[in-house]
Amino acid sequence: MNIITAAELTKSYGLLTAVDAINFEIRKGECFGFLGPNGAGKTTVMGMIYCFMPPTSGKIRVFDLDTTKEPSKIKSRIGVMPQDNNLDPDLSVLENLIVYARYFDLPKDQSERKARELLDFVALEEKVNVNIKDLSGGMTRRLLLARALINDPEIIILDEPTTGLDPRSRHDVWAQLSLLKAQGITLLVTTHYMEEAEQMCDRVAIMDSGKIKVIDSPSHLMSRYGGNLEDVYLQLTGKDLRVHDMSLQGQKLT
Ligand SMILES: Nc1ncnc2c1ncn2[C@@H]1O[C@H](COP(=O)(O)OP(=O)(O)O)[C@@H](O)[C@H]1O
Ligand SMILES: [Mg+2]
Repeated sequence: MNIITAAELTKSYGLLTAVDAINFEIRKGECFGFLGPNGAGKTTVMGMIYCFMPPTSGKIRVFDLDTTKEPSKIKSRIGVMPQDNNLDPDLSVLENLIVYARYFDLPKDQSERKARELLDFVALEEKVNVNIKDLSGGMTRRLLLARALINDPEIIILDEPTTGLDPRSRHDVWAQLSLLKAQGITLLVTTHYMEEAEQMCDRVAIMDSGKIKVIDSPSHLMSRYGGNLEDVYLQLTGKDLRVHDMSLQGQKLT
């Protein structure tokens, strides 16, 4: 069963076509990866799925609802972990979750219980009263993941959930995502780490310059193009991730 369907989906920013008439379907319960170099249009696609911005043209349906007609119904059933940290630096770890729960009309006592449960899930139970500024990068990502789960979402959108993390923290995030997937939650992920996508994603879309080059499972792509998923990516986008990663070291990814 398809949970998201996009048809000729297009987004332009002035003269720039960031997403260019793409078509895709995402199945309920799968882990689907959007891969591609910076500027490919991944974040823009995610933004249209969670009704943050309307398409310029084309259609996108989530839970069989039109994103431009019923955004609040859709948003109440989606969790989002954004690419950039947008936690409130003036609030503690726990307060960040409780304040966020208000968007979903959770009563105060219920939201605190839920928040504490989620902090346990992401192993931040000892950081409940800590200030956001005092969290490590890995802890910040885990808190963003906990926040994305506050409304018991059926779909979770994760925009570069592991970028910039050390291997151990990356592994922790993926371990938590595996548990969510086992519960039947649909996961939409972007990542620059091809070995993560190879292991975790049921299917991936490789994007470049606003277009989808291919959609398939990592194993099919590797047998069709040869090599590992990184080699497939290189053949389809012409961009070498190893060089690309080095050039980005120490910089903020966009
Ligand atoms: N708000 C915006 N205004 C103008 N251009 C934008 C905006 N957001 C993204 N873009 C441009 O759209 C293209 C796709 O961006 P984005 O979706 O962020 O790609 P990705 O997430 O794959 O790096 C890029 O060229 C980017 O500069
Ligand atoms: Mg992006």
